[in-house]
Amino acid sequence: MTVPLRPAWLALAEHARSLRNRHLRDLFGRDPERFERFSLQHRGLLIDFSKQRLNHETTTLLHQLAEQADWRGWQKRMRAGEAINHTEQRAVRHVELRAGDAAPAEVKDVLGRMAAFCEAIHSGTWRGFSGERITDVVNLGIGGSDLGPRMVVHALSACQQPDLRVHFVSNLDGADLASTLAGLNPRRTLFIVASKTFSTLETMANARTARAWLLATANDEGAVTRHFVAASTNLAATSAFGIAPANVFEFWDWVGGRFSLWSAIGLPIALAIGFRHFTQLLAGAHDLDQHFFAAPARENLPLTLALIALWNTNFLDAHSHGVFPYSHSLTLLPAHLQQLEMESNGKRANRDGQAVDYETNPILWGAAGTNGQHSFFQLLHQGGALVASDFIALARSDYPLPGHHSDLLANCLAQSSALAFGQTVEEARSAGIPEHLLAFRRFPGNQPSTTILLPELTPFTLGQLLALYEHKVFCLGVLWNLNSFDQWGVELGKQMAGRLATCIRGEATTAELDASTRGLIAHLQQSRS
Ligand code: F6P
Repeated sequence: MTVPLRPAWLALAEHARSLRNRHLRDLFGRDPERFERFSLQHRGLLIDFSKQRLNHETTTLLHQLAEQADWRGWQKRMRAGEAINHTEQRAVRHVELRAGDAAPAEVKDVLGRMAAFCEAIHSGTWRGFSGERITDVVNLGIGGSDLGPRMVVHALSACQQPDLRVHFVSNLDGADLASTLAGLNPRRTLFIVASKTFSTLETMANARTARAWLLATANDEGAVTRHFVAASTNLAATSAFGIAPANVFEFWDWVGGRFSLWSAIGLPIALAIGFRHFTQLLAGAHDLDQHFFAAPARENLPLTLALIALWNTNFLDAHSHGVFPYSHSLTLLPAHLQQLEMESNGKRANRDGQAVDYETNPILWGAAGTNGQHSFFQLLHQGGALVASDFIALARSDYPLPGHHSDLLANCLAQSSALAFGQTVEEARSAGIPEHLLAFRRFPGNQPSTTILLPELTPFTLGQLLALYEHKVFCLGVLWNLNSFDQWGVELGKQMAGRLATCIRGEATTAELDASTRGLIAHLQQSRS
């Protein structure tokens, strides 16, 4: 049975017809306890989804759909280590990376080696080829081997280790690596080559150039051992690159790239914030894992976020999802979530390989508040497109400067409220807006949003937040009947780039190419000659 034919899906479609035109003003007006009814808490983490365009019947039907999709059964299959990533014949076991005492022995072993390595770098017992301390770490990786660690290191800058800077280089464009290396001293720089496959074009190109940069000063191949470590599942390739086995931090094919910051891919995090903080990050995620596996459906935070996303996407026709952290430290969260959500669930083939005829993941985007307010929020308020949003805020600031945080929170609440309730012409008139401007001062409202409040931003609460979104993605995959753990969609472009590189270098004929690509290559070759 395809997903839309599940009885609850059909009932939701019918129900949406009556609710689609109801305004949030009306829903709030009818129910003074709407906040209590449509908000959940777990250990200080609060999710208010009362500003979503739904009522009790909606949530009842959505939970019926989750039952019919057998979300508990899929949870069990994941936990039992079944190859639920069936197109790659892989289990999905990233929760075991953060299971603490219950983690598998090989996970504990790598964590122990990461701890010892961090200690050696932080204490200065690890030295570069000339005997100097390491002051700069450069993570070379892309996608899941970059976005998660980069985001966490930025988010937890308040915990930054003294005397050590951690940089991230991902882009194939030489401007990324060159501009980073420009400020660094090879005698004091350590590179982490972070790649699950150890074959990704961008990362390997940057790793080769970084090695040449080191050797230009060190003049001795042996220096590579003191300046290069790797996080990878591909031990043969790391050794072929010249990285000593003792410098390789292993992980396994059952860790998806976008779920890998908890593994050896988290090494730059542990170096930046210290291993103790890294274990607190893992503990926060583990706490949310336990909640996800044990909490009843109606109290289950990740399931609730997934059901809301499904409702907005498939029944209210919201094709865009904004993520607005009112926390400068969480600036990079939308970029991480873009990969997590869109690479996982942006798919058209269901688990059986049939083409789906319903929307899957919406376009996810976002920026930190209040910056977004002075940019694209105009469109959210008056542009007419339906955009569902997550507002994320911290009760206590991680950088408490006097006078800043209350105003930041006020802006966060003001935006979600203005988006939900808008302003009628009558309200504008009674607020003293002159008649000739009334049409411009009307705000239709009815833009749905969820507000996620964290007590504060710590490694533990960040771990909770990230695991919350990971499990939301898992639930959505179950509801949409997708394999959330492969990413075949990125392959075609990679293959074509390989072929076109030879054409651009003039080593292969362009005769077989489409007219546009052929014309562009001819122009580029002319401009470059
Ligand atoms: O873009 C596809 C992808 O495979 C991502 O899923 C992954 O995170 C990224 O490339 C990097 O891959 P790797 O860690 O193997 O270099």
